[in-house]
Amino acid sequence: MDAEVFQSLKNLTTSVTSLSELFQKDPSRSQWLTVDACGIHADFSRQRIDSSLFEALLHSAEVVDVRGSFGKLISGEIMNATEGRSVGHMALRAPANSSPLAQQASGQLERAKLLADGIRSGAIVGATGKKIETVINIGIGGSDLGPAMAARALRRFANGPVVKFVSNIDAADLDEALHGAHPETTLFVISSKTFTTLETMHNAERARRWTQASVSEWASHFVAATSHAEAALSWGIQKDRCLEFFDWVGGRFSLSSVIGFPVMCSIGGDQFSEFLAGMSEMDHHVVTAPGNVNLPVIHALIWWMNSALHSFPTVAVIPYSHDLSRLPAYLQQLVMESNGKSVGVDGRTVLGGTSPVVWGEAGTNGQHAFFQMLHQGTQVVPVEFVTTAASLGTDDEAHDLLFANVIAQSEALAAGRAHNELHKSFEGNRPSSVLVLDELSPRCLGSLIAMYEHSATIQGWLMGINSFDQWGVELGKVLAVDAASAIAGGSLVDKKTMTHPLLNWYVSIRKKLPRN
Ligand code: F6P
Repeated sequence: MDAEVFQSLKNLTTSVTSLSELFQKDPSRSQWLTVDACGIHADFSRQRIDSSLFEALLHSAEVVDVRGSFGKLISGEIMNATEGRSVGHMALRAPANSSPLAQQASGQLERAKLLADGIRSGAIVGATGKKIETVINIGIGGSDLGPAMAARALRRFANGPVVKFVSNIDAADLDEALHGAHPETTLFVISSKTFTTLETMHNAERARRWTQASVSEWASHFVAATSHAEAALSWGIQKDRCLEFFDWVGGRFSLSSVIGFPVMCSIGGDQFSEFLAGMSEMDHHVVTAPGNVNLPVIHALIWWMNSALHSFPTVAVIPYSHDLSRLPAYLQQLVMESNGKSVGVDGRTVLGGTSPVVWGEAGTNGQHAFFQMLHQGTQVVPVEFVTTAASLGTDDEAHDLLFANVIAQSEALAAGRAHNELHKSFEGNRPSSVLVLDELSPRCLGSLIAMYEHSATIQGWLMGINSFDQWGVELGKVLAVDAASAIAGGSLVDKKTMTHPLLNWYVSIRKKLPRN
């Protein structure tokens, strides 16, 4: 997008009147700013948009050719130029006969579902003949956040082994997962696209030692989900336990690949297929629906408007569904690793802001923690409420109260309240959206996750950046290896780094501490 179009959009955002005035002038705005698609009812009417800005935003989606870009992505063009890769996550849930990529993916997915269902039924057992009761996924980033979020969200459908997730290199994480688990009935899933990630490989080695101490045929208790099968095989994973995905699937876009294996173990292959069906429905919607009723397009335009045009630095995603509590953490990687960049695909510094800080916590808990700041603080924080129409638990009255809180918070943020005592007044005009899933089912969750994947992608196109690389995580990884070898060697590095004194302090203090 050129500077002139960007500036004219920015000017338009400043001419929009307050939300109260917008509702007064056009009481019908909730009709044209509400979208129903793929089991999601999305109300964007309390965003700072009037009809001319809405038209202009929709036009900007055409300027950056969202439709054409999806076409390129689906046809396997190299859309991740800095890594020379196609971006094929939509092929993971497309019909097998729709493309060579989809064909490749569906074969692996079927293998994963068969293995998961065999473990669930007891047809596939541990080395000593005992049924697997605990599945521990060891992975980090995209090899953890997606399946951990989905397993939590779909826990009402769980009827298989207990599924746990270990990501942190802090030993406390694996300690906790191993607590109460038995080597003969535990299966580890080593989830790593590269099969080299420091945290994952360190934890995997510890898990292998823990298993070997009781089970000599340890490899029967390990599965890999990876795009580097050779590395997994040479680590000792058995060929029939090595589930593959592909370099054309980004880690944070990999939930619909075999990275979903722990979810399959929890809810079963058929329910996982339902999850993929929901994603596929949203994939169809994003490439066929007109802009003014296209949910991911409108969602992306609003997030982009708030971060790049209004320069609101953060966005709070508040799931009003206890089981969606891992959604904010999942979105942090999806949005911030994808769009936290400053250089465009043209090699120039981008116009306007890129990724907002995404944060959040389950409602209503958040209301009693940080909502004070959202209502009366000096920063404007756009809020996204995510909830369900159907009640989840056994208490429908509680669900009505939950929904009432979504309504109340959106109203208070937007309308505010005048009061003659200033500390009791709410200025209002604080933007929010509400996304309501029909129910927290595998299918609706699939639609929601695909919606967020597409929204992050479209935001990247609006920003003019490559959403599919993540060079910003590399420097820290290299420096961690250097620091670890200095610590292990007990050598005082003599480089004049800014962290040199801290490293030397740690090297000397650890000699005096007890070690395990
Ligand atoms: O460090 C970032 C990252 O590369 C993510 O992009 C990725 O999801 C995560 O690490 C884990 O990588 P892997 O699946 O290769 O272990």
